[in-house]
Amino acid sequence: MEGHFSLKKHLLSISDLKAQARRRMPHFAWEYLDSGTAAEECLARNRSAFQQITLTPKFLKGKLTPNLQTTLFGTEYAAPFGIAPVGLSSLMWPKAEVILAQTASQCRIPYGLSTVATESPEVVGKITGDMGWFQLYSPRDLTMRQDLLDRAWNAGFKVLLVTADVPIMSRRERQIKAGLSVPPKITPRTLYHLARSPRWSFETLLAGQPRFKVLEKYANDQQMRQMLQFTNDNLSGTLSWDYLEEIRALWKGALVLKGVLHPEDASRAVAVGVDGVQVSNHGGRQLDGAPATMEVLPEIKAAVGADTKVFLDSGVRSGLDIARALAVGADFVLLGRAFLMGVGALGRTGGKQTVSILTDELTNVMMQLGCATVTELSQVEWRKD
Ligand SMILES: Cc1cc2nc3c(=O)[nH]c(=O)nc-3n(C[C@H](O)[C@H](O)[C@H](O)COP(=O)(O)O)c2cc1C
Repeated sequence: MEGHFSLKKHLLSISDLKAQARRRMPHFAWEYLDSGTAAEECLARNRSAFQQITLTPKFLKGKLTPNLQTTLFGTEYAAPFGIAPVGLSSLMWPKAEVILAQTASQCRIPYGLSTVATESPEVVGKITGDMGWFQLYSPRDLTMRQDLLDRAWNAGFKVLLVTADVPIMSRRERQIKAGLSVPPKITPRTLYHLARSPRWSFETLLAGQPRFKVLEKYANDQQMRQMLQFTNDNLSGTLSWDYLEEIRALWKGALVLKGVLHPEDASRAVAVGVDGVQVSNHGGRQLDGAPATMEVLPEIKAAVGADTKVFLDSGVRSGLDIARALAVGADFVLLGRAFLMGVGALGRTGGKQTVSILTDELTNVMMQLGCATVTELSQVEWRKD
C-alpha cells in the first residue's frame, strides 16, 4: 500500500497525531472533533471495551507476509478499514474532505462523504473514483432526498450509508461551551483562538469559510445563516422502516444501515434488503448510555447471518483495535476521529500518515498472531478480560 514508507518517525501512533492536532487546531474545532455527548461515558466505554479483548496467538507458522486486501460488494480494498463520514470536516482542517478523498483513492480504502460535508459529492466523487461511499441523513423533503441520491450516484458513489442513530441532535456540552457555530461568529474569544492557530487561520483564509456544500443548494439566504438549525429541521428524526424501504427501492448500489446497536434492528434491516449493517454509536456522540459497539457486535453478527456484511466503528484507535474488531466478528472497520486527527496534525499528508500508522500496526499484529490474511484474523481466538 502506498504511504507505507512515508511514516513520520515522531508521529508513530494515533495518540501522537491526537496530541499534535490538539496543538494546531483552534479550540472550538478541536472540541467539535474530540467531544462526545453529555458526561462522555460512552466515549470511555467504547475504549474500555476494546481494551478488554485479548487475542491468543498461534506460532510456528514459518515466514508470514500478511495480506490486508479485503473485498466488499465486489470492490477490492487495500485494507479492512476506511474513513467514516464526518460532517463539517473543513472546520477541523481546511480542505479536509479533499485531503481524505485523495488519501482514499491513493491508498485504495473507502471514504465516506457526509450529507453535512463541506465539499460537494460532485467534487469529491471525481477524486475518490470507486472508493467513495455516500452517507445519508434522510431529508424530510422527498424532492431533496431524490436529488441527493441522484447527485451521489451520478458523482460515482455506489455504496450508501444511511444513518439511523440521529433521531435528534444530541447535547454536546463541550461543543456549546466552546462557542461552535456555523458560520463561525467572530467574537474576541474566537479571534484569540484563531491567533493561537495561525496555520489553520491562514489556510482557512485561502480556502474560504467552511460551507455545507452538499446541502446549500436546498437552503435560502435566511436558512444559510442558520445552517445548523436548517440541518436539524430538515434531516433529523425522519427515518422509519417504511422510509428505509423506500430508499432500498430507490438506491441501485449497496446499502448499509449505519448506527445499529440492537440485534432486532439488525435483522429487520436485513429483511428490508440492506447489504450491510454498521454497528456504531456515532463515536459516543449521541446517547451517553449506549452500549459499546464491541459489546454488541457478537449478537448483531449472529442476528444477520453470513450474507450481510457487518461494519464496526466507534473508538477504534489502532491497528490492534482493527484486529480485535475483525476477530470478534466485524467484516470491516471505520474510523472517524483518527483520520481527522491525522489531518489536524499534518494537513495535506495527514490522511496518508494515518493509513500508514494503521497499516503498519495491523500488519505487525497479524504477524504476532500468525495470520496471513484478513479471513484468518476473523478466526483468531479471543477472550474478554
Ligand atoms: C466530528 C464528527 C462528525 C461526525 N459527523 C457524522 C456525519 O455527518 N454523519 C454520520 O453518519 N456520522 C458522523 N459522525 C460519526 C462517524 O461517522 C463515526 O460513526 C464515528 O466517528 C466513529 O467513532 P470514532 O470517531 O471514535 O472513530 C461524526 C463523528 C465525528 C467525530
